[in-house]
Amino acid sequence: MRRIHPYVEDEPDIPAAYAYPRDHWLRLNMVASADGAAWVEGHSEGLSGPADKRIFGLLRGLADVVLAGAATVRTEGYRPARPRESWRALREGRPPAPPIAVVTRRLDLDFGSSLFTEAEPYARTIVITTESAPKDRREEAAARADLIVAGDERVDLATVVSELRDRGLGRVLCEGGPRVNAQLVAAGLVDELALTVSPLLAGGDAARILDGVASRTPLTLAQVLEEDGFLFCRYIREAQDEASG
Ligand SMILES: NC(=O)c1ccc[n+]([C@@H]2O[C@H](COP(=O)([O-])OP(=O)(O)OC[C@H]3O[C@@H](n4cnc5c(N)ncnc54)[C@H](OP(=O)(O)O)[C@@H]3O)[C@@H](O)[C@H]2O)c1
Repeated sequence: MRRIHPYVEDEPDIPAAYAYPRDHWLRLNMVASADGAAWVEGHSEGLSGPADKRIFGLLRGLADVVLAGAATVRTEGYRPARPRESWRALREGRPPAPPIAVVTRRLDLDFGSSLFTEAEPYARTIVITTESAPKDRREEAAARADLIVAGDERVDLATVVSELRDRGLGRVLCEGGPRVNAQLVAAGLVDELALTVSPLLAGGDAARILDGVASRTPLTLAQVLEEDGFLFCRYIREAQDEASG
Protein backbone atom coordinates (compact mmCIF):
# COMPACT_ATOMS: atom_id res chain seq x y z
CA MET A 1 0.00 0.00 0.00
CA ARG A 2 1.20 3.53 -0.73
CA ARG A 3 0.09 6.99 0.15
CA ILE A 4 -0.57 9.20 -2.87
CA HIS A 5 -2.06 12.26 -1.14
CA PRO A 6 -1.20 14.71 0.46
CA TYR A 7 2.32 13.41 -0.26
CA VAL A 8 3.73 10.23 -1.77
CA GLU A 9 4.99 7.59 0.63
CA ASP A 10 5.61 3.85 0.27
CA GLU A 11 4.33 1.62 3.06
CA PRO A 12 2.84 4.33 5.28
CA ASP A 13 1.91 3.65 8.90
CA ILE A 14 -1.73 2.71 8.33
CA PRO A 15 -2.98 2.82 11.96
CA ALA A 16 -1.44 6.29 12.28
CA ALA A 17 -3.07 7.27 8.98
CA TYR A 18 -6.50 6.48 10.46
CA ALA A 19 -5.97 7.59 14.07
CA TYR A 20 -9.09 9.28 15.43
CA PRO A 21 -8.42 13.04 15.64
CA ARG A 22 -10.67 13.36 18.72
CA ASP A 23 -12.32 11.23 21.36
CA HIS A 24 -15.71 12.38 20.02
CA TRP A 25 -15.71 11.68 16.30
CA LEU A 26 -18.02 9.91 13.90
CA ARG A 27 -16.34 8.18 10.98
CA LEU A 28 -18.38 6.70 8.19
CA ASN A 29 -16.67 3.83 6.35
CA MET A 30 -18.04 2.76 2.99
CA VAL A 31 -16.91 1.08 -0.22
CA ALA A 32 -18.31 2.09 -3.62
CA SER A 33 -17.71 1.09 -7.23
CA ALA A 34 -16.06 3.63 -9.55
CA ASP A 35 -19.59 4.53 -10.75
CA GLY A 36 -20.86 5.00 -7.20
CA ALA A 37 -22.74 1.78 -6.46
CA ALA A 38 -22.91 0.83 -2.77
CA TRP A 39 -23.51 -2.83 -3.49
CA VAL A 40 -23.23 -5.51 -6.16
CA GLU A 41 -25.92 -8.18 -6.23
CA GLY A 42 -27.18 -6.89 -2.88
CA HIS A 43 -23.90 -7.09 -0.95
CA SER A 44 -20.77 -5.00 -0.45
CA GLU A 45 -18.54 -8.09 -0.80
CA GLY A 46 -18.33 -7.75 -4.60
CA LEU A 47 -16.82 -4.27 -4.18
CA SER A 48 -14.20 -5.21 -1.64
CA GLY A 49 -10.71 -6.67 -1.90
CA PRO A 50 -7.86 -7.72 0.42
CA ALA A 51 -6.66 -4.19 1.21
CA ASP A 52 -10.23 -2.97 1.79
CA LYS A 53 -10.77 -5.82 4.24
CA ARG A 54 -7.57 -4.88 6.07
CA ILE A 55 -8.67 -1.25 6.40
CA PHE A 56 -12.19 -2.34 7.40
CA GLY A 57 -10.69 -4.44 10.21
CA LEU A 58 -8.29 -1.73 11.30
CA LEU A 59 -11.10 0.84 11.50
CA ARG A 60 -13.04 -1.50 13.77
CA GLY A 61 -9.95 -1.90 15.92
CA LEU A 62 -9.69 1.86 16.32
CA ALA A 63 -13.37 2.42 17.15
CA ASP A 64 -15.21 2.48 20.48
CA VAL A 65 -18.41 1.27 18.82
CA VAL A 66 -19.57 0.10 15.37
CA LEU A 67 -22.92 1.56 14.31
CA ALA A 68 -25.02 0.00 11.53
CA GLY A 69 -28.54 0.05 10.14
CA ALA A 70 -30.65 -3.06 10.60
CA ALA A 71 -30.77 -3.79 6.86
CA THR A 72 -26.98 -3.90 6.75
CA VAL A 73 -26.90 -6.15 9.81
CA ARG A 74 -29.48 -8.48 8.23
CA THR A 75 -28.00 -8.47 4.71
CA GLU A 76 -24.36 -8.75 5.66
CA GLY A 77 -24.99 -11.27 8.46
CA TYR A 78 -23.35 -9.24 11.23
CA ARG A 79 -21.59 -11.06 14.05
CA PRO A 80 -19.79 -9.61 17.08
CA ALA A 81 -16.42 -8.02 16.25
CA ARG A 82 -13.72 -10.48 17.29
CA PRO A 83 -10.61 -9.16 19.07
CA ARG A 84 -7.44 -9.35 16.98
CA GLU A 85 -3.86 -9.47 18.11
CA SER A 86 -3.15 -6.46 15.88
CA TRP A 87 -5.73 -4.44 17.85
CA ARG A 88 -4.05 -4.92 21.21
CA ALA A 89 -1.89 -1.78 21.06
CA LEU A 90 -4.67 0.25 19.42
CA ARG A 91 -7.12 -0.59 22.19
CA GLU A 92 -4.96 -0.14 25.25
CA GLY A 93 -7.19 0.88 28.15
CA ARG A 94 -10.30 -0.18 26.25
CA PRO A 95 -12.17 -3.49 25.89
CA PRO A 96 -10.52 -5.86 23.35
CA ALA A 97 -13.25 -5.29 20.73
CA PRO A 98 -15.96 -2.70 20.07
CA PRO A 99 -19.66 -3.56 20.43
CA ILE A 100 -21.97 -3.52 17.42
CA ALA A 101 -24.88 -1.05 17.72
CA VAL A 102 -27.90 -1.66 15.45
CA VAL A 103 -30.45 1.00 14.49
CA THR A 104 -33.92 -0.46 13.95
CA ARG A 105 -37.55 0.57 14.09
CA ARG A 106 -39.18 -2.82 13.51
CA LEU A 107 -36.77 -4.88 15.64
CA ASP A 108 -36.88 -7.57 12.99
CA LEU A 109 -33.61 -9.07 14.22
CA ASP A 110 -32.67 -12.69 14.89
CA PHE A 111 -32.05 -12.59 18.63
CA GLY A 112 -30.87 -16.21 18.49
CA SER A 113 -28.04 -15.33 16.10
CA SER A 114 -24.40 -15.05 17.12
CA LEU A 115 -24.65 -11.25 17.09
CA PHE A 116 -26.60 -11.61 20.32
CA THR A 117 -25.62 -15.00 21.72
CA GLU A 118 -21.86 -14.75 21.19
CA ALA A 119 -21.17 -11.11 22.07
CA GLU A 120 -18.77 -10.91 25.01
CA PRO A 121 -20.01 -9.08 28.13
CA TYR A 122 -17.52 -6.25 27.49
CA ALA A 123 -18.99 -5.70 24.03
CA ARG A 124 -22.66 -6.58 24.33
CA THR A 125 -24.56 -5.78 21.18
CA ILE A 126 -26.53 -2.55 21.46
CA VAL A 127 -30.01 -2.29 19.93
CA ILE A 128 -31.22 1.23 19.24
CA THR A 129 -34.92 1.60 18.64
CA THR A 130 -38.04 3.71 19.14
CA GLU A 131 -40.88 4.05 21.66
CA SER A 132 -43.25 2.74 18.97
CA ALA A 133 -41.32 -0.50 18.33
CA PRO A 134 -43.36 -3.67 19.04
CA LYS A 135 -43.43 -4.16 22.83
CA ASP A 136 -42.72 -7.91 22.80
CA ARG A 137 -39.72 -7.39 20.49
CA ARG A 138 -38.47 -4.60 22.73
CA GLU A 139 -38.62 -6.89 25.73
CA GLU A 140 -36.70 -9.56 23.86
CA ALA A 141 -34.12 -7.01 22.72
CA ALA A 142 -33.68 -5.79 26.29
CA ALA A 143 -33.03 -9.37 27.43
CA ARG A 144 -30.50 -10.12 24.67
CA ALA A 145 -28.74 -6.80 24.25
CA ASP A 146 -28.24 -3.33 25.68
CA LEU A 147 -31.27 -1.33 24.62
CA ILE A 148 -31.33 2.36 23.76
CA VAL A 149 -34.70 3.96 23.04
CA ALA A 150 -34.18 7.21 21.16
CA GLY A 151 -37.26 8.70 19.52
CA ASP A 152 -40.96 7.96 19.15
CA GLU A 153 -41.50 6.90 15.54
CA ARG A 154 -37.93 7.14 14.23
CA VAL A 155 -34.61 6.83 15.98
CA ASP A 156 -33.15 10.29 16.48
CA LEU A 157 -29.52 9.83 15.50
CA ALA A 158 -28.24 12.93 17.30
CA THR A 159 -29.64 11.48 20.54
CA VAL A 160 -27.93 8.19 19.71
CA VAL A 161 -24.51 9.77 19.21
CA SER A 162 -24.86 11.69 22.47
CA GLU A 163 -26.06 8.57 24.33
CA LEU A 164 -23.11 6.57 23.00
CA ARG A 165 -20.74 9.32 24.16
CA ASP A 166 -22.32 9.22 27.62
CA ARG A 167 -21.46 5.53 27.69
CA GLY A 168 -17.82 6.28 26.87
CA LEU A 169 -18.26 5.29 23.21
CA GLY A 170 -17.28 8.56 21.56
CA ARG A 171 -15.24 7.22 18.64
CA VAL A 172 -18.06 5.96 16.47
CA LEU A 173 -17.50 3.94 13.30
CA CYS A 174 -20.63 3.84 11.16
CA GLU A 175 -20.56 1.05 8.57
CA GLY A 176 -23.77 2.10 6.79
CA GLY A 177 -25.96 1.38 5.12
CA PRO A 178 -26.90 4.19 2.79
CA ARG A 179 -30.25 4.95 4.45
CA VAL A 180 -28.69 5.45 7.88
CA ASN A 181 -25.80 7.36 6.30
CA ALA A 182 -28.10 9.89 4.63
CA GLN A 183 -29.76 10.71 7.96
CA LEU A 184 -26.46 11.01 9.81
CA VAL A 185 -25.05 13.36 7.20
CA ALA A 186 -28.21 15.47 7.00
CA ALA A 187 -28.11 15.86 10.80
CA GLY A 188 -24.52 17.11 10.58
CA LEU A 189 -23.25 14.18 12.64
CA VAL A 190 -20.59 12.78 10.26
CA ASP A 191 -17.10 14.15 10.88
CA GLU A 192 -15.30 11.96 8.39
CA LEU A 193 -15.92 9.72 5.40
CA ALA A 194 -13.50 6.83 4.85
CA LEU A 195 -14.37 5.84 1.30
CA THR A 196 -12.89 2.94 -0.62
CA VAL A 197 -13.28 3.40 -4.38
CA SER A 198 -13.27 -0.01 -5.97
CA PRO A 199 -11.85 -0.36 -9.53
CA LEU A 200 -15.15 -1.64 -10.90
CA LEU A 201 -18.16 -0.40 -12.85
CA ALA A 202 -21.40 -1.85 -11.51
CA GLY A 203 -24.32 -0.11 -13.25
CA GLY A 204 -27.69 -1.39 -12.12
CA ASP A 205 -29.88 0.26 -9.53
CA ALA A 206 -27.76 -0.02 -6.38
CA ALA A 207 -28.01 2.99 -4.08
CA ARG A 208 -25.13 5.40 -3.70
CA ILE A 209 -23.47 5.55 -0.30
CA LEU A 210 -26.15 8.02 0.86
CA ASP A 211 -29.75 7.09 0.16
CA GLY A 212 -32.50 9.38 1.38
CA VAL A 213 -32.85 12.98 2.43
CA ALA A 214 -30.80 15.43 0.34
CA SER A 215 -28.02 17.40 1.99
CA ARG A 216 -24.95 19.35 1.04
CA THR A 217 -21.80 18.80 3.09
CA PRO A 218 -18.51 20.18 1.76
CA LEU A 219 -15.55 17.89 2.42
CA THR A 220 -11.78 18.27 2.49
CA LEU A 221 -9.74 15.45 0.96
CA ALA A 222 -7.30 14.69 3.79
CA GLN A 223 -5.64 11.54 2.51
CA VAL A 224 -5.57 8.98 -0.30
CA LEU A 225 -3.92 5.57 -0.07
CA GLU A 226 -3.74 3.11 -2.97
CA GLU A 227 -3.31 -0.63 -3.40
CA ASP A 228 -4.15 -2.80 -6.43
CA GLY A 229 -6.17 0.00 -8.01
CA PHE A 230 -8.33 0.50 -4.91
CA LEU A 231 -8.33 4.06 -3.55
CA PHE A 232 -8.73 4.64 0.18
CA CYS A 233 -9.89 8.23 0.63
CA ARG A 234 -10.28 10.07 3.92
CA TYR A 235 -12.56 13.06 3.67
CA ILE A 236 -13.06 15.38 6.61
CA ARG A 237 -16.15 17.55 6.93
CA GLU A 238 -15.15 21.14 6.27
CA ALA A 239 -14.95 23.41 9.31
CA GLN A 240 -13.71 20.43 11.29
CA ASP A 241 -10.31 21.07 12.74
CA GLU A 242 -8.55 17.74 13.26
CA ALA A 243 -6.22 19.18 15.86
CA SER A 244 -8.77 20.73 18.18
CA GLY A 245 -11.20 19.18 20.63
N1 LIG B 1 -20.86 -0.37 0.22
C1 LIG B 1 -20.78 -0.42 1.52
O1 LIG B 1 -19.77 -0.06 2.14
C2 LIG B 1 -21.99 -0.90 2.31
C3 LIG B 1 -22.00 -0.74 3.69
C4 LIG B 1 -23.13 -1.16 4.39
C5 LIG B 1 -24.20 -1.71 3.71
N2 LIG B 1 -24.13 -1.85 2.36
C6 LIG B 1 -25.29 -2.41 1.64
O2 LIG B 1 -26.37 -1.54 1.87
C7 LIG B 1 -27.59 -2.28 1.91
C8 LIG B 1 -28.34 -1.96 3.18
O3 LIG B 1 -28.40 -0.55 3.33
P1 LIG B 1 -29.77 0.23 3.40
O4 LIG B 1 -29.46 1.64 3.09
O5 LIG B 1 -30.80 -0.48 2.57
O6 LIG B 1 -30.22 0.05 4.90
P2 LIG B 1 -29.52 0.42 6.29
O7 LIG B 1 -29.23 1.88 6.35
O8 LIG B 1 -28.43 -0.54 6.60
O9 LIG B 1 -30.70 0.04 7.30
C9 LIG B 1 -31.97 0.60 7.14
C10 LIG B 1 -32.78 0.11 8.30
O10 LIG B 1 -32.26 0.71 9.49
C11 LIG B 1 -33.33 1.06 10.34
N3 LIG B 1 -33.39 2.51 10.40
C12 LIG B 1 -32.74 3.41 9.61
N4 LIG B 1 -32.99 4.65 10.04
C13 LIG B 1 -33.81 4.54 11.11
C14 LIG B 1 -34.40 5.48 11.99
N5 LIG B 1 -34.20 6.79 11.88
N6 LIG B 1 -35.20 5.00 12.96
C15 LIG B 1 -35.41 3.67 13.12
N7 LIG B 1 -34.85 2.74 12.33
C16 LIG B 1 -34.07 3.18 11.34
C17 LIG B 1 -34.60 0.46 9.75
O11 LIG B 1 -34.59 -0.86 10.27
P3 LIG B 1 -35.88 -1.79 10.46
O12 LIG B 1 -36.26 -2.16 9.08
O13 LIG B 1 -35.36 -2.95 11.26
O14 LIG B 1 -36.88 -0.98 11.18
C18 LIG B 1 -34.26 0.48 8.27
O15 LIG B 1 -34.99 -0.48 7.53
C19 LIG B 1 -27.20 -3.73 1.81
O16 LIG B 1 -27.35 -4.13 0.46
C20 LIG B 1 -25.74 -3.73 2.17
O17 LIG B 1 -25.05 -4.79 1.55
C21 LIG B 1 -23.07 -1.44 1.65
